[in-house]
Amino acid sequence: MPLLTDIGTLVTCAASGGQGDITPVRDAALAWEGGRIRWVGALKDLPAEYHAWDRESAAGQLVVPGLVDCHTHLAFGGWRTEEFSQRILGHSYLDIAAAGGGILSTVRKTRAASGEELGSRAAAHLAAMARLGVTTVEAKSGYGLTLDDELRLLQVYRDLGTGPQRIVPTLLAAHTVPPEYRGRGDAYVDLVCEQIIPEAARRGLARFCDVFVEEKSFSVEQGRRVLVAGKRHGLRPKIHADQITSGGGAELAAEVGAASADHLEQVSNQGIERMREAGVVAVTLPFASLYLHVAPVRARRLIEAGVAVAVATDFNPGSAPSYHLPFAMTLACTLQRMTPAESLKGAAIIAARAVGLEDEVGSLESGKSADFAVIEAESVDQWLYHLRDNACVRTVTQGREIWRA
Ligand code: NIG
Ligand code: FE
Repeated sequence: MPLLTDIGTLVTCAASGGQGDITPVRDAALAWEGGRIRWVGALKDLPAEYHAWDRESAAGQLVVPGLVDCHTHLAFGGWRTEEFSQRILGHSYLDIAAAGGGILSTVRKTRAASGEELGSRAAAHLAAMARLGVTTVEAKSGYGLTLDDELRLLQVYRDLGTGPQRIVPTLLAAHTVPPEYRGRGDAYVDLVCEQIIPEAARRGLARFCDVFVEEKSFSVEQGRRVLVAGKRHGLRPKIHADQITSGGGAELAAEVGAASADHLEQVSNQGIERMREAGVVAVTLPFASLYLHVAPVRARRLIEAGVAVAVATDFNPGSAPSYHLPFAMTLACTLQRMTPAESLKGAAIIAARAVGLEDEVGSLESGKSADFAVIEAESVDQWLYHLRDNACVRTVTQGREIWRA
């Protein structure tokens, strides 16, 4: 049974304490067996029963929980390179969308792609994420927008879920109104509530139900219908809220008891208060703020109000074309004014909470899944401060090594 020693610092990221409490342990050891953590603590306190376990060395490096990317749009067809320079030249995200670009352009490419193509591209992204220390990935549908195409994306996630990383599938059929329903948003919401949600739930293909509440997508009333229908079928609510305009999305998240409200660049003070009362996790997505050139989310205000703040990539071909979670964590520091410790906790145990897996992953504690990353850095501060291609030298998930530099 493996015992990792020579750990310079291990941060447990246990849930207790504030956003910045990551519980560092110097000169630590970590023992696991059958994919579960058996013991974690300072080497000098290691109980005798573990002394004979097979020792592996972390060479004095930093050990962190396997990272949890709690908001991605992992499977999609094509890219949207052309929109990058269009936005730089002043065309807004919503204008591009209104002209048939944006999400709908990816919907066309996704519908035209085969299931194998969607699956092999997503698998390649996942493999790249493993090299960065990411062991759990939430993955949304939302580029199909018909019953069959949404189920097809969820099926890609089911197939990928047999691989080393954990996949948490989310149905986002209410991402935007598809062209066939142009001007008939309510009729599309009927389809989502009466056919797509029930069928995805019946096949056990989704754990969460999400909706994009935004001017050009869905209203608060439509969002409520979708999330309530999802709940009736056992899907926990999540919501894309207050990203480009402030529209009561955070308040809706609190009302329906959502696991998380995501984006929140434009969240109101009242929305923050409602989220705190209801215990909704705020998922912040610094790549989306960066690429859409909007003011970043007020993470300090959220943290000071007592809302737990997660950090994720939002990986998608439009607003966030990167799966580099450690880079997003650095941006959460620089743009959102979170400390490195706060940012890490936001991509570990708080992100795990946002996907309902806080009892399983997101912290290094005995009984939890043996998911961890070895980082070539002397501290969390130094890791997220010194931006480079990849500081992760080893990734283990469920006790199995999936990456070694
Ligand atoms: O989270 N906001 C809506 N959905 C995605 C963007 C999707 C896209 O542009 O393709 C987001 O940013
Ligand atoms: Fe998103």
